[in-house]
Amino acid sequence: MTLDLDFVRSQYPVFQNSETAQWAFFENAGGSYVPHPVIERLNHFFKYTKVQPYGLFASSVAAGQAMEAAYSCVAELLNTHPDQLTFGPSTTMNFYVLAQAIRPSLRAGDEIIVTNQDHEANIGCWRRLAEFGIVIKEWQIDPQSGELNIEDLKELVGSHTRLVCFTLCSNIVGTINDVKTISNIVHASGALSVADGVSFAPHRLIDINDLGVDLYLFSTYKTFGTHIGVMWGRKEVLEKLESQGHYFNSDKPRYRLNPCGPLHAEIAALAGLGEYYDALYEKHFTDLNLSRHARGVKVFDLFAEHESRLANQLLDTLQELPGVRVIGQAHAAAGQRAATIAFLPAEKKPSEIVKRLADNFIAVRNGHFYARRCIEALGLKDPEEGIIRVSLVHYNTEEEVSRLVDGLRALM
Ligand SMILES: Cc1ncc(COP(=O)(O)O)c(C=O)c1O
Repeated sequence: MTLDLDFVRSQYPVFQNSETAQWAFFENAGGSYVPHPVIERLNHFFKYTKVQPYGLFASSVAAGQAMEAAYSCVAELLNTHPDQLTFGPSTTMNFYVLAQAIRPSLRAGDEIIVTNQDHEANIGCWRRLAEFGIVIKEWQIDPQSGELNIEDLKELVGSHTRLVCFTLCSNIVGTINDVKTISNIVHASGALSVADGVSFAPHRLIDINDLGVDLYLFSTYKTFGTHIGVMWGRKEVLEKLESQGHYFNSDKPRYRLNPCGPLHAEIAALAGLGEYYDALYEKHFTDLNLSRHARGVKVFDLFAEHESRLANQLLDTLQELPGVRVIGQAHAAAGQRAATIAFLPAEKKPSEIVKRLADNFIAVRNGHFYARRCIEALGLKDPEEGIIRVSLVHYNTEEEVSRLVDGLRALM
């Protein structure tokens, strides 16, 4: 079975409007388009229940119920309990708060391993802890491929390791890291594994308990939702973190790691994600007895198959173009590479190509995408120019990729 793209695209207002629909949009890793059900819930909240939720008057009760529906929906999708989720304003902020919450349990001489493959969100907040005597070690990428080698991690972990902070999938390299093997190594040393799922979550739906990590963070504005950062933790790990909320909220699971308080409407709208995935499920499958998580997994399996095909359409062309350096794996094998494809042209500046593509209604970007250490480690001389990144998701089409490929052939 293949993904019914006409149906998928009918769910997005942006594809129904002639001005916006003419764009081949490949900047999804920066922030994805939003389907009707999410927009409708956001609109409804702002129109009718834009009051402080959880009060006793009707609109406030309704606002609280709308938020609860979203907590439940995201928890069901990830196969977890809502109390294990914190909905903050972004993943960067969630990481920052998490680092503050973990700090009191660390002692001078304790070690934290970070990578140079990650987005800075999962590096900088940990590196700052060096001022408290925490030793920061760096798990470094191969400068040619951009990939992390598990053997190197084995050399770095030891009896002082407390945390290993890594990404499930780099927003530049695209390789899906072997999270289970990594977490096994981390746990064998007695440390916790902290995983950035931002570039992974738009492409795969995981059973979070099965992943093996202790803390998992991702951003819903890259998974077709509103601008929220979701942080999940294992119950026993969350319980040990020091509350960062108001003292009277320190026992409330959803508030203790969210000092800024929940963004009501943006959270409420996330229930629309469940409706969106359900609509896709019902279009493609018939068994309605499965859990929301199991239904979601089947939908994401269709996404993955479609995305791999598009990724290979682009990767094959890039390899034909003279002098182009593709970052990461040259072929998108199922489960091993997300359709986030970064490359460097042989002669022209990345920004020059990006501009020419934009003149033809093709949206991509260049730069370091806040994974600046990764870009530098790859040996790129000008990190601001960085690489060109094409990030595909399930609503992209073969025809759009053909337009991109033709454009690249003409320009490079
Ligand atoms: C891999 C990765 N991690 C973390 C982040 C930070 O997420 P947020 O913008 O929600 O802070 C991003 C954002 O681009 C990202 O791509």
